[in-house]
Amino acid sequence: MPNTKNKNTKKKTYKKSTSASKRYLKPRWSWLSQSKKGIMYIDGISVTDLINKYGTPLYVVVERELRSRLRRFKSSFPYPNLRPQYACKCNSNLEIMRIAREEGFELDASSVGEIILALLADFKPHEITFTNLYKTEQDIMFAAKVGVQAITVDSIEEIKRVAAVGEKVKTKIRLFIRVNPMIEFRGYTTKNHKYGIPYGVAKKAIDIAIASPNIDLIGLHFHGSNMDYPKSYYLGMGKLVRLAKYCKEKGVTIRFVDMGGGFPVQYNNENIYVPEDMGKIFVRKFLKLLDKYQLEKPVLVFEPGKFIVANTGIGLTRVISKKRLKKQKILITDGSTYAFLPDVIVDDRYYDVLPANKMNKKGNQVYSIEGCTCDVIDEMARKRRLPFLSEGDVLAFMDVGAYSNVLASNFNTLKRAPMVMIKENGAVKIIRRRDRYSEMFAPELDVLKIAGPKEMKRFYDLFRINVENFWKGSTKKR
Ligand SMILES: Cc1ncc(COP(=O)(O)O)c(C=O)c1O
Repeated sequence: MPNTKNKNTKKKTYKKSTSASKRYLKPRWSWLSQSKKGIMYIDGISVTDLINKYGTPLYVVVERELRSRLRRFKSSFPYPNLRPQYACKCNSNLEIMRIAREEGFELDASSVGEIILALLADFKPHEITFTNLYKTEQDIMFAAKVGVQAITVDSIEEIKRVAAVGEKVKTKIRLFIRVNPMIEFRGYTTKNHKYGIPYGVAKKAIDIAIASPNIDLIGLHFHGSNMDYPKSYYLGMGKLVRLAKYCKEKGVTIRFVDMGGGFPVQYNNENIYVPEDMGKIFVRKFLKLLDKYQLEKPVLVFEPGKFIVANTGIGLTRVISKKRLKKQKILITDGSTYAFLPDVIVDDRYYDVLPANKMNKKGNQVYSIEGCTCDVIDEMARKRRLPFLSEGDVLAFMDVGAYSNVLASNFNTLKRAPMVMIKENGAVKIIRRRDRYSEMFAPELDVLKIAGPKEMKRFYDLFRINVENFWKGSTKKR
């Protein structure tokens, strides 16, 4: 059970929402409701209470949805030896990682930093794989010494580098080979992917790995990114199993088949498949092929990222001003694509936007929603139907749980937003605080020695004691 006695958690004392017109709600947000006054409630917690306490912009994560998705994923694949991993690159918040571990997930780390985070989230070394496009000798040495489950190599050069490190540290390093199966299906193709060893040279890579006395080849890996059709998984798996057969002929048993992540997410009203739609079929096909080639049943690994977290997150931001450009109506917010929702510019992401304190009002205006930075491309959403909104109103960007906080930058020297989790027991727990200037400036202050910690504290105190109190019209020290 999660520790709900943490000092950062607060028992819910807020009034439950009552039903009202649900014009903005969609079935995937089953934990969303609204009061008669039109205030959005996130799993029973009023958005107004949240922003009064934590400010805006603010990320909110719903624990109930997070755990439900982790469980749904696991039960979608009726395979006796399934060991899914959470791909923490899409949201490496420690509390989220900890919950993934509690729900029986292992971890896909894409850097030494993520390995360290995984250890901090109490994953055991043998529950972590290290998979990315390029690792330095130092990275490999670190992962080998930590004793991760496996290092996933992406090129023949990398196999040789791992072998050399194994030789240096006198260890047999456990290895997955990442393969690009060069598949193509209904517009989806891996033929232009930069990652993975192309299928045509995979056998050569296997030969090199097997020949090294310092490598223990235990797994084959494929991650195909946005897999819009389940068939891409079936095709990729078929290629991996054929390579497992090749390994067997060479006297090596493949103990892990890792199919990566890439499961689709519903952001708007897209028709997507969910793991439940394809899990049984995948397992049936997998078992059939293993049987055909008389292979032992390996551990089956998936590495879902955005499927697990995207729909669990909400981004709250406040309207700070309005403008009109000819016919175009513009809302300026205290959020931005850079410091808050970067996926809008990185991946042209469409997020649903809800009027969080006017949920009972008709969407009779069309607004463009702009970020607050001085960049013309900092537009968070275009042409959205919303009620008449003014300064101080609150917008909820939906489904922002993946690739938001991890991509966010301090552009314009803005602080990145805090994150709170609505716990299953109704508590609100802060799981990341807002950035502080002192830590944002540290990399330059450290080397340029312009200001020491004391001077920074002076600025910080000045801000806290004088400026904030002045704004609030209060003389009380906080
Ligand atoms: C190796 C690997 N595994 C898993 C993932 C997670 O993908 P997704 O978030 O699409 O599930 C990624 C994402 O880039 C990845 O590179």
